[in-house]
Amino acid sequence: MSFFIRFADAPLGHEIVGVDLSHEIPDEQFAQIQDAYDRYGVIVFRGQRITPDQQIAFSRRFGPLDRYILERYNLKTHPEIFVVSNILGDDGQPIGLGDAGRYWHTDMWSIPAPPRGSLLYALEVPEKDGRVYGDTFFCSTQAAYDGLPPDLRRAIEGRQALYSTRRLVDFRVAAAQAQSGGALTQAEIEGMKERSKNMLQEITHPLVRLHPRTGRKCIYYSEGAISGIVDVPQAEAEQILEALRRHLLQPEFIYRHRWAAGDLVMWDNCSCIHKATGDFDLPLRRRMHRTTLRGTVPIPSAAGAAAVQ
Ligand code: SIN
Repeated sequence: MSFFIRFADAPLGHEIVGVDLSHEIPDEQFAQIQDAYDRYGVIVFRGQRITPDQQIAFSRRFGPLDRYILERYNLKTHPEIFVVSNILGDDGQPIGLGDAGRYWHTDMWSIPAPPRGSLLYALEVPEKDGRVYGDTFFCSTQAAYDGLPPDLRRAIEGRQALYSTRRLVDFRVAAAQAQSGGALTQAEIEGMKERSKNMLQEITHPLVRLHPRTGRKCIYYSEGAISGIVDVPQAEAEQILEALRRHLLQPEFIYRHRWAAGDLVMWDNCSCIHKATGDFDLPLRRRMHRTTLRGTVPIPSAAGAAAVQ
């Protein structure tokens, strides 16, 4: 089948059709894939059957890979693969991280050079009575930047956001408790607190950053993780952050991915944010393999086009 893009009804989440990721992809086709990835921020490949080696080989075409910070969640035979799963192994221990990404975020914002993006490959998808669970939502932060009302744009342009790991843990625990039935178990809450010890406790990133390959302006944001805006009084910062959250989460900027086994979804950590739903539990099983592309220090929008490669 020939290569083409099947456009989603959203600014991102378009499907690349006619590519078999288990084979070496010709350079010309790879350039088209990379162009679509840079341009739209989320691309989808359906109906794939790939081994960990093949996922790693495809991911490396984009550049060096990062490993997930907690080695115990990485595949023993292929540590570049981070296992996202709620399944328990024969020893009763989780085979992967069960509650990954259940809030609007970009991956690994707690390091100075967060990843360029991630590739998530679905091996098992939870399904019951013909309904699929465990969808992932993606929001285009470049489309949302373009759609900013002028006053909100002025309020964030050139500003640095202060991220706090502690604030995120408090936010996620409060969100879990507010939901009837609880989105997180006690064990998951304890796990989250433990994981946060391995993260930098505070870091700043620009609220508007330039995409390092296209130069487009994107809002750089993670829900619940930003505790303030540098040089902005706290009450005002909170109002701005709430207005920004509401602006970002408008349906016109969002793509919802309903998974099927064999899907591989690639997202860009500058031009989108994402959120896993986690609306399922054992005995429904979900098993995904994630590879992570190494990134660069976010370029503040004020740096101008010359700062882009
Ligand atoms: C992630 O944020 O890496 C996981 C997303 C998902 O499991 O849907």
